[in-house]
Amino acid sequence: MKIVRSIRLMTEISRGEKSKGRSIGFVPTMGALHEGHLSLIRSAGKENNFLVVSIFVNPTQFGKNEDFKRYPRVLEKDALLCKRAGVDVIFYPTAKDMYPSEYKTYVEVEDLSQALCGKFRPGHFRGVATVVTKLLNIVSPDWAYFGQKDAQQAVIIRKIVTDLNMSVKVEIMPTLREKDGLALSSRNLYLNQEERKDALGLSQSLKLAKDLIRQGKTDSSAIINSMRKLIRAKKSARIDYIAIVDAQNLKPLKKVSGKSLIALAVWIGKTRLIDNLKI
Ligand code: PAJ
Repeated sequence: MKIVRSIRLMTEISRGEKSKGRSIGFVPTMGALHEGHLSLIRSAGKENNFLVVSIFVNPTQFGKNEDFKRYPRVLEKDALLCKRAGVDVIFYPTAKDMYPSEYKTYVEVEDLSQALCGKFRPGHFRGVATVVTKLLNIVSPDWAYFGQKDAQQAVIIRKIVTDLNMSVKVEIMPTLREKDGLALSSRNLYLNQEERKDALGLSQSLKLAKDLIRQGKTDSSAIINSMRKLIRAKKSARIDYIAIVDAQNLKPLKKVSGKSLIALAVWIGKTRLIDNLKI
C-alpha cells in the first residue's frame, strides 16, 4: 500500500491502472476511519481491481465556528486499517495543494445544498461538492462509494455526477450502526459517557417514526412532534431540525409516502450528529 501526497502522482497512478484495463474503486473520507468507512472500502475492494481511499479533512466544508481544528487526525491508525482492508493507495493530499492561494473555483448545487443541513451549515455543501468534484477528477475512478449516513451529501453527489456529465458510477451504501443503534461517526469520539447515552435519541426517534408509519400514521408534522418529544427528554440534546422530505429533491412532504427521507440533526452537548431513515 502506498500513501500518495502528490496530486500529479495520484493522477499518474490512476492513468497507469486504467491503461492496464483495471477498474478503480474509490472511497473519499476525512479519516478517523470506523466500520462504516470500512464497509465502503470493503465493497469498493470487492467490486474493483484497484482500491483508492482518500483521507483529507477538507477545510472548505467547515464553517468558521465548526470543528475543523479539532477533527480527529489519526493517519497511522487509518493506514493500518486501510492496509488490512486491501487498499492499494491512500491519497492524502495537503490543503495547500488542494487549495493554493490563488484558488477560485467552487461547485454549487442549487436548492439541494440549501435544504436540511444546508440551512444550519451555510457553505458546507459548496465545500463538499467542490472537494468531491476535485477528488473525482484527480482519481478518476470507475466507481465511487458513499454512505447513506450522509443522505443529503449522497443526493448532492449524484446530482453533480449527472449534471456535470461525469462518467464515474456512484454507489450509496447502508448506514452502519453500533449494536444499540447509534450511527457510526468519526464525531462520536467527542462524546462523553452521558452524551453517548443521549445520542441514542437520534436512532430511537427514527425507530419511533418507523413504528408510527407501520401503524398507518402518515402525517409528517405528527410524526415529527413525536420524534421531537423523545429527543427533548435527553438532557444534552438540542435539535437543529427534524424533517420529512422527498428522498430525491429534499423538499418537505406533508405526508409520508414511498420515497420519503426522514432526516435529523441534533446537537449532543457540543457535538452535532445526523442520522436518517429512508422509507
Ligand atoms: P466522512 O465523514 O469521513 O465519511 C466518508 C464516507 O463514509 C461518506 O460517504 C459517509 O457517508 C460514509 N459514512 C460515514 N459514516 C458511515 C456509517 N455509519 N455507515 C456507512 N457509511 C458511513 O463524508 C465525508 O467524510 C466528507 O464529506 C467527504 C465526502 C469525504 C468530502 O470531504
